[in-house]
Amino acid sequence: MNNHALIDTATALVADNKGLLAMDESTPTCNKRFAALGIPQDEDFRRTYRELLVTTPELSDSISGAILYDETIRQHTQDGTPMIAVLIAAGIIPGIKVDAGTHSLAGHPGEFITEGLDGLRERLRDYARLGARFAKWRAVVAVSDDLPSRGCIEANAHALARYAALSQEAGLVPIVEPEVLMDGDHSLARCREVTEAVQHAMFAQLHSQRVLLEGLILKPNMVVPGKDSPEYTSGSVTAEMIAEATIDCMLRTVPAAVPGVAFLSGGQTPEQATERLNAMHVHCGTRLPWAATFSFSRALQQPVLDIWRGDVANTQAAQRALQQRAECNHAARRGAYLPSMEPA
Ligand code: 13P
Repeated sequence: MNNHALIDTATALVADNKGLLAMDESTPTCNKRFAALGIPQDEDFRRTYRELLVTTPELSDSISGAILYDETIRQHTQDGTPMIAVLIAAGIIPGIKVDAGTHSLAGHPGEFITEGLDGLRERLRDYARLGARFAKWRAVVAVSDDLPSRGCIEANAHALARYAALSQEAGLVPIVEPEVLMDGDHSLARCREVTEAVQHAMFAQLHSQRVLLEGLILKPNMVVPGKDSPEYTSGSVTAEMIAEATIDCMLRTVPAAVPGVAFLSGGQTPEQATERLNAMHVHCGTRLPWAATFSFSRALQQPVLDIWRGDVANTQAAQRALQQRAECNHAARRGAYLPSMEPA
């Protein structure tokens, strides 16, 4: 394990006010998003779509790294260039999702554990050989009056730490993603309480597993009320309130040695996710010991898919939509985003 190389990669991923493009949807998830728009769900359409993303002009002005899925890291563009080589040539650091998805946690109805530790050492070696420089693992935590259970928090924290240690051993920066889900009617305060508990447990496990904090990135949820909560549906929670709750929570849990916190979007609209990231920098910017940036999937890609719809004639317009969303988030990282930057 080369600590300097890990630190260099982690630092580069959050440098220059850039963020990450998460394009690591599993095949079933990608197909589900295609199906919703009537796009054929086969390998060729997935390949064409991912080529559209990685060949977007000037993407590296705002995007530091892209998270790929196993299928994509092995695919080539139409002219025969490996997708990963396209990213590297553009100055975008390639990474890879390495978890094997979420499964019901035995004995814990309604809760999930992320699988994928078996054989992970070999898979990480393979991905490093293919050119990946970082790896991502997502755990999900459901919220209700009774959930999450201690058992769920601890099992996922342990798996995240085991994966992170193996990633660093292979020379890949771990992006640790403990996602507290937005599903449910819980309040902002409850999300904050759960997020804090989940992250405390995870950082304790990262310490136990001897993970180098300077060589990892945290990918958390923003602290937001549940989608079915009165706070959410009434729109009474402002971007400033979410920014304050999120940063207050992270300041309690994320050691200053961690170079970056790259938020997931988690079902927020693209504009909401950008506005809230912006509010973190406007209202809390002087208090941040680490970079606070984005690692969005839906909040970067949904407008792209809505325009593309599987039609090659829409490729350029779709790429322009990706550029615009990436530019808006790049501005948000400096607290310089304005709604007027949105396309008319
Ligand atoms: P969203 O931004 O759509 O939440 O996705 C982030 C991600 O990488 C999920 O693992």
